[in-house]
Amino acid sequence: MSERVLIFDTTLRDGEQSPGASMNPAEKLRIAGQLEKLGVDVIEAGFPAASEGDFESVSQIAARIRRSEVAGLARANRSDIDRAWQAVRHAARPRIHTFIATSDIHLQYKLRMGREEVLQAAVEGVRYAKSLTDNVEFSAEDGSRSDRDFLCRVFEAAIAAGATTVNLPDTVGYAIPDEFAGLVRYIRSHTPNIGKAVLSVHCHNDLGLATANTLAALQSGARQAEVTINGIGERAGNTSLEEVVMALHTRSSLLGLETGIKTELIHPTSRLVSMITGMLVQPNKAIVGANAFAHEAGIHQDGVLKNPMTYEIMRPETVGLSANRLVLGKHSGRHALRTQLKDLGYDLSDEELNLVFAKFKELADKKKHVMDEDLEAIVTEGILRTAEVFALDYLHVTAGTTVLPMASVRLKINGRAVQGAGYGNGPIDAAYNTIAQLTGTNAELLRFSISALTGGTDAMGEVTVRLRENGLIALGKGADPDIITASAKAFINGLNRLEFLKSHPPEETAGL
Ligand code: KIV
Ligand code: ZN
Repeated sequence: MSERVLIFDTTLRDGEQSPGASMNPAEKLRIAGQLEKLGVDVIEAGFPAASEGDFESVSQIAARIRRSEVAGLARANRSDIDRAWQAVRHAARPRIHTFIATSDIHLQYKLRMGREEVLQAAVEGVRYAKSLTDNVEFSAEDGSRSDRDFLCRVFEAAIAAGATTVNLPDTVGYAIPDEFAGLVRYIRSHTPNIGKAVLSVHCHNDLGLATANTLAALQSGARQAEVTINGIGERAGNTSLEEVVMALHTRSSLLGLETGIKTELIHPTSRLVSMITGMLVQPNKAIVGANAFAHEAGIHQDGVLKNPMTYEIMRPETVGLSANRLVLGKHSGRHALRTQLKDLGYDLSDEELNLVFAKFKELADKKKHVMDEDLEAIVTEGILRTAEVFALDYLHVTAGTTVLPMASVRLKINGRAVQGAGYGNGPIDAAYNTIAQLTGTNAELLRFSISALTGGTDAMGEVTVRLRENGLIALGKGADPDIITASAKAFINGLNRLEFLKSHPPEETAGL
């Protein structure tokens, strides 16, 4: 009989701390809904004390999600805990997640507190959270670099004060698997009441070891893994959900551990998060990278054709990649479109489907086969983007070997039409100069990348930009069969995200 591992997803909290990955409340709500379908046990929806926007999003998610637990993060002080509780209290299954650092380096330089003071703060925080809800998680930040005996004392006191989960973070991604597994065993044998709580781990990927450390900890008795979709997160990211879940699934006879994740929804969820955050998944990323199931070498292809198990340790279908999806074209109807979108993980309302259907028909007029990637781009552009300050109304460019590249652009700014024209080194530069002039932005373009969504010269071009303005960083994405239009859309999307960040400034959350 396999033992159950709880999956605690922190894409919306730690994942959102990836530079440029900020999401608006509607986007977070959509991701939370998908995480619930995916079957995660706990959704960490945000850090309500960090900003008004975070509080709002966590409250909305708590009101919507019914099956997964919804956690709000709080430092170990009453005002953070009150804020977290106010945000999650309407959830069907609320959780308060409170934390304080326990390593000497954090105590000395960040908190300027002694060990006994930290222990006291942890106990008071947990006790106060427990007066609000039964479901309290306590994290010892920088646990992997803390004195082991002090760490066990803090966990023991936190459990005695009412923590139902105690979490061991490798906050700076410093641990090595064997060492981390040893620490988990030490905690289990030196924390007398550890049996009264779930022992959790939370790893960062600074040395590329987050998944290995998490698996080593689970093999040593931890029973909750804190993870993010696509491994997004602060710096090099967090442990990726798909890697841990598929390792447990694929090697279940060795590990004897299982999760409640519906593995067929891994791919759609990965794509949704990538689409919304604008953070591309590297092609060779395990499980969800574009090449994860692509066999290039002839000898491999031959083997896979004879028996997939020669070179495939898991079936693509298991993670939601289907080889026999329909290819849609201009004669495809609403029903086929709805089915295809559902397979891709998009459960749209009738109104949303109508919008996507109209755009799909427009594209199908220009392009013979509308592929999954095209549909996703349509959904992202038409449905997942909300609350836009700037919208592209019209774009016309002239370019070629004998003319000075010029763009004329009409934008809607908060619904009001403005137009202008400008020159540049090329048509994209001309479009960007004109958009910058019309919007009055000072945003610096840090990155511009363009790729074809599918093969063929009629493919949609997908553009990703990274913008910086007054210390705020935002990613923007745009897709269109016309690459100049795709570029303009990406720039405008990035500017809209910067506007959102300006009105919801992320608070400094030092040490997280
Ligand atoms: O990395 C970390 O230590 C955290 C804690 C707040 C759990 O994210
Ligand atoms: Zn973290």
